[in-house]
Amino acid sequence: MKLEELLCLGNQTLHKDQVKLLLGSILNINPLELNLHLNDYIEADLVNKYKDCLKALNKGEPLQYAIGKMNFYGFDFYVDKRVLIPRFETEELVYNTNIYLQKYFQSGIKLLDLGCGSGCIGITLKKLNPNIKVTLSDISKEALEVALKNAKSNQTEVEIIESDLFKNINDKFSVIISNPPYVSKTDEIDEIVLQNEPHLALFSKNNGLFYYEEILKVATNYLNSKFLIAFEIGSSQKDAILQLISKYLSDVSVITKQDMSGRDRMVFIFKNIIINE
Ligand SMILES: C[S@@+](CC[C@H](N)C(=O)[O-])C[C@H]1O[C@@H](n2cnc3c(N)ncnc32)[C@H](O)[C@@H]1O
Repeated sequence: MKLEELLCLGNQTLHKDQVKLLLGSILNINPLELNLHLNDYIEADLVNKYKDCLKALNKGEPLQYAIGKMNFYGFDFYVDKRVLIPRFETEELVYNTNIYLQKYFQSGIKLLDLGCGSGCIGITLKKLNPNIKVTLSDISKEALEVALKNAKSNQTEVEIIESDLFKNINDKFSVIISNPPYVSKTDEIDEIVLQNEPHLALFSKNNGLFYYEEILKVATNYLNSKFLIAFEIGSSQKDAILQLISKYLSDVSVITKQDMSGRDRMVFIFKNIIINE
């Protein structure tokens, strides 16, 4: 089939921008340049892949799962229903953590990405800092299979541990970074997310605070004396998390940051580090 026919086929049921993104991704062509290839004949296996993706999208699957990949911080990550689709806010968490890593830590850095899902956080930080030792952990065996695939495709060497929070972690780290599940059962959530993404990756008890509290309770057992804890948080959780920090940690400095939309979305906890922002 010609590319133009494939575009028309998709446009019958989906928004034209979504069709262009899909086709561009399958054919490895910038979606803005598809018009230059309208008369190209597309190989049968790619046509079949495109048709399968159209079916999935028409059933309400997110584009990233249908395509099976997404870009995170400039790197390609495979994603499917076993893992959360990495979000833009998480790129901001990685961006800020990377600055702190490079500013306040020198050599021998060990970093734990707790609740790694696709591995997007830990693998990206390893790409940006090849000398650090990165451990990815998650309670979900299925998610860890995806993380391993992504570590390999991004040519990064990381340690992968299946663990319910710290249960199977037997090391000490300079940095613990986590984007834990933080959606409360009472929060409003998009239907497409609810229907497709793993609930294990989304929901948390105690108004979405359960995992922060569980991590903060015992984190120092797994941290060096000089440390950074970096959390992504829900936009209404800042005050509650600051309270948990004062309950469980002493002599720490805390920085909170907003995302690009001006919502409180990141908390950084430093110990034995003199902060100069
Ligand atoms: C919000 S997702 C974050 C995934 C990935 N880090 C990201 O930012 O896209 C939370 C992850 O925590 C994992 N998780 C849930 N409960 C856990 C537990 N008790 N111990 C470890 N990981 C857990 C889920 O399987 C999921 O992969």
